[in-house]
Amino acid sequence: HRILLLGAPGAGKGTQSAKLADEYGVEHVTTGDALRANKEMETEYGTPKSFMDAGELVPDPVVNEIVKAALEDADGFVLDGYPRNLDQAEYLSEITDLDAVVLLDVDEEVLVDRLTGRRVCDDCGANYHVDFQPPEEPGVCDECGGDLVQRDDDTEETARERLEVFYDNTEPVVDHFRDEGVLVEVDGEATPDEVFERIRDVVEN
Ligand code: AP5
Ligand code: ZN
Repeated sequence: HRILLLGAPGAGKGTQSAKLADEYGVEHVTTGDALRANKEMETEYGTPKSFMDAGELVPDPVVNEIVKAALEDADGFVLDGYPRNLDQAEYLSEITDLDAVVLLDVDEEVLVDRLTGRRVCDDCGANYHVDFQPPEEPGVCDECGGDLVQRDDDTEETARERLEVFYDNTEPVVDHFRDEGVLVEVDGEATPDEVFERIRDVVEN
């Protein structure tokens, strides 16, 4: 399987990609996590952190490099967080083919609630939400007991900026795949398990 999962910030790409990678035994390739793991890396454009904390896109050369290296090593994959603009989409088409392109559709106000309520484990990276996916004990990871923290870019102001960047830069990528006739849209407003069933249905049929 070579699956591309598209969707706005907070649409559930990370949540669903992890499940899909598990289900199909393929690599979960996510530029967001890769960049967070290398936030302080000095590039000729500045650190990834300087862009991410403002909700802006990290420059294409930095991100393209990450994706190329990750896909070279992967037999199958679920790609999440890339491409985010038409130039990245063009680059991706040069380095790999895709079997499925899935868009997770979620309303804007739901996205803001999901982003501002998200908490992530400082140790293992597991994802929670204060209302929608609360941990058993507040502030503590169910998986590993680590501390749950808020991502620096999940403040309401930065979340709204990220949504603007999505509508300006990434919607044209969605339209591009729609015009090619390969896009499948999935309603992302349901429980994580229900959304997962919907995606599995379209990937397998
Ligand atoms: P990235 O990490 O990719 O963030 P994003 O696209 O903004 O996506 P999120 O991780 O916020 O959301 P998600 O869709 O994965 O949702 P999740 O499953 O976590 O990118 C961060 C930054 O890195 C960018 O702003 C940019 O600066 C840089 N970057 C990354 N890729 C780049 C690229 N290609 N080019 C340039 N720059 C790049 O869910 C969100 C919350 O909702 C969670 O709390 C979760 O528990 C909850 N939730 C999930 N599903 C459900 C559900 N079904 N019902 C209720 N709650 C749910
Ligand atoms: Zn943890």
